[in-house]
Amino acid sequence: MPEEPREKGFTLWFTGLSGAGKSTIARLVAERLRAGGRRVEILDGDEVRRHLSQGLGFSKEDRDTNVRRIAYVASLLTRNGVAVITAAISPYREAREWARRQIGDFVEVYVRCPLDVCAARDVKGLYRKALAGEISNFTGISDPYEPPLHPELIVETHRETPSESAAKVLGCLARLGYIPAPASGPVEAPARGPLP
Ligand code: ADX
Repeated sequence: MPEEPREKGFTLWFTGLSGAGKSTIARLVAERLRAGGRRVEILDGDEVRRHLSQGLGFSKEDRDTNVRRIAYVASLLTRNGVAVITAAISPYREAREWARRQIGDFVEVYVRCPLDVCAARDVKGLYRKALAGEISNFTGISDPYEPPLHPELIVETHRETPSESAAKVLGCLARLGYIPAPASGPVEAPARGPLP
């Protein structure tokens, strides 16, 4: 019996500061994709570091290794038609570009939120520790974050609700042809190009 044509896989690559909202939006988008019948896997930074990347630290070398591992798994899933969502800080542009080349069907989403807002949210209490010097190499405080120059989409979590950001992500996927366009309502045009 001929197989059903396989849905095209893709990787939604979320990048942004700790506390910017990557995991929250990833979960919302995953829920909506699953409701639309897609097979979805989330590769979340915290989770990956408990399993695949256990023992890695936060030096540039370790972060790049972490990103390469995530990209490798994402590439296997993507080529098998899975909708993959990664949610790691992935602070280095070059490593993300490597991931883009490795995966091919790569949709980079900059989850943008000003540092002071992330630090005020301080969901995990890590910014307080980083600012007190108790954690070194903390992204945005004592370690770099290189924002994407040409992401497929920017969401701004300090002025959008998680639900609005998730809707923008789904609109972007539809515009790129990875999912069918929503039955009703306008599909928001994704932002492209350099940041203001
Ligand atoms: S990445 O840089 O390698 O992509 P990843 O997303 O996996 O980072 O892990 C970041 C998470 O680890 C943060 O959300 C935070 O909870 C925790 N963390 C602990 N130490 C640091 C640090 N020095 N810098 C950034 N995040 C840290």
